[in-house]
Amino acid sequence: MLSYRHSYHAGNHADVLKHAVWIQLIKYLCQKDKPLFVIDTHAGAGGYSLETEHAEKLGEFRDGVGRLWERTDSVSPLIVDYLAIVRAENSGQRLRYYPGSPRIAQMLLREQDRLRLFELHSSDHQILAHKLGQDDKRVIVYADDGFTTLKALLPPSSRRGLVLMDPSYELREDYSRVIHTLREALQKFSSGTYAIWYPQLPKLESAQMPKRLKALPCESWLHVSLSVRAPATQGHGMCGSGMFVINPPWTLHALLQESMPQLSSLLAQDQQASFTLEQQRN
Ligand SMILES: C[S@@+](CC[C@H](N)C(=O)[O-])C[C@H]1O[C@@H](n2cnc3c(N)ncnc32)[C@H](O)[C@@H]1O
Repeated sequence: MLSYRHSYHAGNHADVLKHAVWIQLIKYLCQKDKPLFVIDTHAGAGGYSLETEHAEKLGEFRDGVGRLWERTDSVSPLIVDYLAIVRAENSGQRLRYYPGSPRIAQMLLREQDRLRLFELHSSDHQILAHKLGQDDKRVIVYADDGFTTLKALLPPSSRRGLVLMDPSYELREDYSRVIHTLREALQKFSSGTYAIWYPQLPKLESAQMPKRLKALPCESWLHVSLSVRAPATQGHGMCGSGMFVINPPWTLHALLQESMPQLSSLLAQDQQASFTLEQQRN
């Protein structure tokens, strides 16, 4: 039984990193005319009001997108593109609405592209299907397990594909399922671009994630992580997160190199905030 609801966390520092990278991946892959097939294996509700009880309860968005929203001075290209998407969802001066990964994809994809979304939580699936799956012929929303079903959709007929794997890691086995699912997916579609989000938590599984991802059978990858504060020694506090991209666009490293210092300083919650950026190229 799943209890995680992304509406409590939407727009937090982890969403900022994940979505800033997600936007760049889609924008880059949309430069070629050939259709792009996008799969979000853990889609959430699609988009979130920041004025609900859920969002207000923890108020996490205030230390995430909230810190960027007010910026009027010059910000780096990664943040400019990220804010353009968030602003497009908010008509006035006030930050009221936050687009999730499915909505971001829907906004950036073209007529010839396709979007496949998986969400297992029945309430979030309903919201997602209602918001994105009704009037847009490019989109199909499934109430299935994104881990087990992914391989059935691969390889896409256009041979141009992008996958986001963004579990809540609510279940301990999610860490291993990410690795197992990617192994299977790479066997069927080795040239696809895969983006995997993971949390930085005081847990062995979380600490081991970068090493396990780097050991996957792929020739090129990029790994970016952002810690907004010192790690908690106990409890469940998430001090940061990482994005691991298999077969990344060749432009992504330089863009992140330019932008991560500013993003890290804007989202810092204490003196120990930091980021890492590394890549392997074939
Ligand atoms: C972190 S949230 C997704 C957030 C979303 N990707 C975004 O960035 O806006 C993870 C979601 O995965 C769903 N979920 C958990 N296990 C799943 C599975 N095996 N297959 C599909 N969805 C799953 C949860 O219900 C939750 O809504």
